[in-house]
Amino acid sequence: MLWYNPSELSFRFERNIKKLRMKRKEEISNRIKIGIFGFGKTGRIVADEFFKEDHFRLEWVVRRTHKDHHKYATRLLGHEVDGAPIYSVDEVSPSFFQKNPVDIIVDFASARAHEHYMPAADCGIRIISAISKYKEKDLVDLKKLADKTAVLYSPNITLGVNFLLVASQILQKIAPHADIEIVEEHFRGKKEVSGTAFKIAETLGLDKDKHVNSIRVGGIVGRHEIIFGLPNQTIRLVHESINRAAFGQGAIFAARWLVDAPAGMYSMENIIADMFKRNIPVY
Ligand SMILES: NC(=O)c1ccc[n+]([C@@H]2O[C@H](COP(=O)([O-])OP(=O)(O)OC[C@H]3O[C@@H](n4cnc5c(N)ncnc54)[C@H](OP(=O)(O)O)[C@@H]3O)[C@@H](O)[C@H]2O)c1
Repeated sequence: MLWYNPSELSFRFERNIKKLRMKRKEEISNRIKIGIFGFGKTGRIVADEFFKEDHFRLEWVVRRTHKDHHKYATRLLGHEVDGAPIYSVDEVSPSFFQKNPVDIIVDFASARAHEHYMPAADCGIRIISAISKYKEKDLVDLKKLADKTAVLYSPNITLGVNFLLVASQILQKIAPHADIEIVEEHFRGKKEVSGTAFKIAETLGLDKDKHVNSIRVGGIVGRHEIIFGLPNQTIRLVHESINRAAFGQGAIFAARWLVDAPAGMYSMENIIADMFKRNIPVY
């Protein structure tokens, strides 16, 4: 049997604690650093999702106004930690990204926020834009950013919807004569037709005015169904949103992939299609 004297035991204990602390420090410094533009309905949930993931470190949040100026986003999200100060977009000067370096910017702000990103792209900071609607000119600007850094643009960033887009194209290739209809269901107050439904129609080469069917009832967060009608069978692909955290999970998925990507323009569909290709079993 081995016997240690108390001073040796305490020395060993101290050494192990030191090792654990160093490991933790190393883990934290290796985390992917995230800066978020937008702290509205979606941005704050996305910020929370990144904060809760061990692989990421939420560095800061930028919003349009001076609301909650320099307060910690983590505190506002209900965590007992001082992290991720909130800046107003007025403070985002060209040197902002050198003073507050991050690996990736995640944009859930507005179609104008990207106007601040060129100095970030010059520093090699990658960009995820989740803005739902851009004008043609904004897309040209994003492409200019993509000459310098990796940019992922995804007007619908949930994994499920992007999976639906890829899977439906495969099904259409296998059954080119199927009748296809798209049904989108949302809460009663949603006025416009779902942009995602239009995107599905466009991807499948369908006339969006004829093949997109909208239903507005109660509090449905969002449901998209693609119906493939064949003479003797019907195939239905359905995606249902449960809550906005799905947008954060999509952004996290994108960030893990984008962090090692070379300069260029990417979409969630690209990533998922690539995964499909690599993972389809060979019979
Ligand atoms: N891709 C997807 O899957 C997906 C999903 C959901 C939402 N979105 C998109 O995400 C964006 C935000 O949606 P939301 O519902 O969260 O809107 P929201 O509640 O109106 O929040 C917008 C946020 O962006 C900030 N902001 C606006 N302009 C800015 C600028 N130029 N620079 C920095 N911050 C700016 C606002 O700051 P203040 O709070 O100071 O006003 C606010 O915090 C929209 O474009 C929406 O379409 C995309």
